[in-house]
Amino acid sequence: MRPVLRDPAYEKIFQEEGYVEIPFLSQEEVELLKQKFFDLMPTSGGNITASDTGVEGGEITYDFTFIDKNIEYKKAVFDEITKIFMPHVKKWLADYRPLIANYIRKKTAGGEVPLHQNWAFADERKVTTVSIWCPLVDSNVENGTLQMVPRSQKRFGEVRGPMIPWELDSIKHDIIEQCLVPCNVKAGNAVVLDDSIVHYSAINKTNDLRLTIQLILIPDEEPSIHYHVNPAVDKNQVNVLEVDKDFYMEFNPWKQPEGARVVRTFQHETQQITMQEFKKRIKGPKIDEKQPFNLLRRVRDLITN
Ligand SMILES: [Fe+2]
Repeated sequence: MRPVLRDPAYEKIFQEEGYVEIPFLSQEEVELLKQKFFDLMPTSGGNITASDTGVEGGEITYDFTFIDKNIEYKKAVFDEITKIFMPHVKKWLADYRPLIANYIRKKTAGGEVPLHQNWAFADERKVTTVSIWCPLVDSNVENGTLQMVPRSQKRFGEVRGPMIPWELDSIKHDIIEQCLVPCNVKAGNAVVLDDSIVHYSAINKTNDLRLTIQLILIPDEEPSIHYHVNPAVDKNQVNVLEVDKDFYMEFNPWKQPEGARVVRTFQHETQQITMQEFKKRIKGPKIDEKQPFNLLRRVRDLITN
């Protein structure tokens, strides 16, 4: 399997748990990136909303670069974040390139991010895409930190995109109640997470600044894909688009994408799973694990359970 992190000890934790905390930015870099957020803020166009494009949908209650209306602002954020992040990325990750860069600011009493997995950005049977989540203030449950379902990576929802139903949708409240582990991360440390891990974050209950960065990265050699469905044509037909970072700069989650090449299509229907099935699959193999290994793992689980 292609490695994600260069350091074998961190790689081991990442592969088992689906995420790992690393020391990442210096205090000076944290302050600089915080300053950049406020310097660039006047050029933000504000969030695109579902109603802007005439579609019904949940409103997002936090500042989120990805859905900003001003593409020039998104590009400036990408440049500033990658300038400081990439020397550290090169040290920590095994040859990854940046795809999407976001500031995420939760104001007081807002900013819940529902339970989800990030979209798929590549063929996850072959490689792993990651997000580096780096808080610019100390983060904890009070200010709405990231919360994980450990070991849920590459075990659910392989086909993920903005218009594709999620197989955990009907059990999401039970998962939030039973399975979450919060990340208490000091400013400047970062969490490297598999984009397929199940995660959540609650509202910011404090009056303080709650500002983090998310940088999504993909292996250098791997094409980036986007799973797209047009329900007006066929709600079960998934178009696999080959895309690049410019595609996401101009992306509007509530609009039909234009101009991207369709590399293949396939039929896919989402089935909701039960809590029992969820707990069983968490103990089972990941989608990228080979059969002999799966067999060993099953034997191990039989012995240890
Ligand atoms: Fe996420």
